[in-house]
Amino acid sequence: MTLGYNKDGFLKLPTPLERLEGISRDTGVDFWIKRDDLTDPGMGGNKLRKLEYFIHDALDKKSTVLITTGAPQTNHGRLTAAVAAKYGMKCAIVSIADHSGEISGNILLDRIMGAEVFIKRPEPGISDGSLLSETLAKITRNYENQGEKVYFVPMGGSSELGILGYYDCAKELALQIKNKDINVPKIFCAVGSMGTYMGLFCGIKNENIQMDLTGIAIAPFSSEPAVWARGYFERIKGFYGNRIKISASEKDFDINHDWTYGAYNNPVSEVREAIYYMARREAIILDPCYTGKTFNGILKMIDSGLIDKNQTVIFIHTGGNPGINSLPHRAEMESDLKADFKIF
Ligand SMILES: Cc1ncc(COP(=O)(O)O)c(C=O)c1O
Repeated sequence: MTLGYNKDGFLKLPTPLERLEGISRDTGVDFWIKRDDLTDPGMGGNKLRKLEYFIHDALDKKSTVLITTGAPQTNHGRLTAAVAAKYGMKCAIVSIADHSGEISGNILLDRIMGAEVFIKRPEPGISDGSLLSETLAKITRNYENQGEKVYFVPMGGSSELGILGYYDCAKELALQIKNKDINVPKIFCAVGSMGTYMGLFCGIKNENIQMDLTGIAIAPFSSEPAVWARGYFERIKGFYGNRIKISASEKDFDINHDWTYGAYNNPVSEVREAIYYMARREAIILDPCYTGKTFNGILKMIDSGLIDKNQTVIFIHTGGNPGINSLPHRAEMESDLKADFKIF
């Protein structure tokens, strides 16, 4: 139980914490990786830690269908589909997007695992947010008319409850660091809907763990990320009451947003270079939307001296690998890599 809430612990934890010898040698930084891409069901990733809490709540409420939302290539949707399959439930993933209709990457896996995928095109005169609410309500009603009980998993799993997955991960990391006798580390994670970062932040601070945390935004925020973070943190405090003993102001949130390249999930050649570097040096596959952007940001911070040589760094690999097989990333990679691909 964490902060008064139970989870259905289907993951094999702890995930490995490994030193990356090649990258440590190249950069002069003591470089470690936390393999949360190896969390198994549905090809793994960070959302499964959050879903351990959501599925417990959904089963408690006797739900039979999980519905969630995100971009068409949502990793969170794919992992919600995985959990639904594992627990014998139905799953629906709903997006508002102008989508080409191609079934690749995560969408392919969603369908393989039996989830229904609904992609509604934007409509003039109605905001995407309102269209999403309408569409979700309609799909929910359809399931209910068939006698199903629907449980809604919030986008990215980033609600007050969803932070508990990475709250636990902070405690798991603290134990691994102690057992491996690692220096006080700087932890880096991708920031999308922010539940991963906020879970780690609350776990580190509330449990008084000696670690620094830096988030790397993978897409621009509508306001300063720290302002956003503060608002989220206040909602968490309201939800958990005095079980969260700490307070925080904007200056306590370290979220770098220099490496978003201006958009969500856009193909970026520097990010692909970071992906190729990790793959060729350590045989670890990153994704173009989240972990590739984050690793690229870490490399840039090392190059510019923002991360000291000799610093111990732990990069949390949050998964997302199916994204390399989605358009347009796959096309860009094929174009980069075809020079040394020979058929004769
Ligand atoms: C692979 C991957 N890494 C990182 C993140 C970011 O996590 P969060 O949304 O909790 O900030 C996501 C979110 O979808 C993801 O799919």
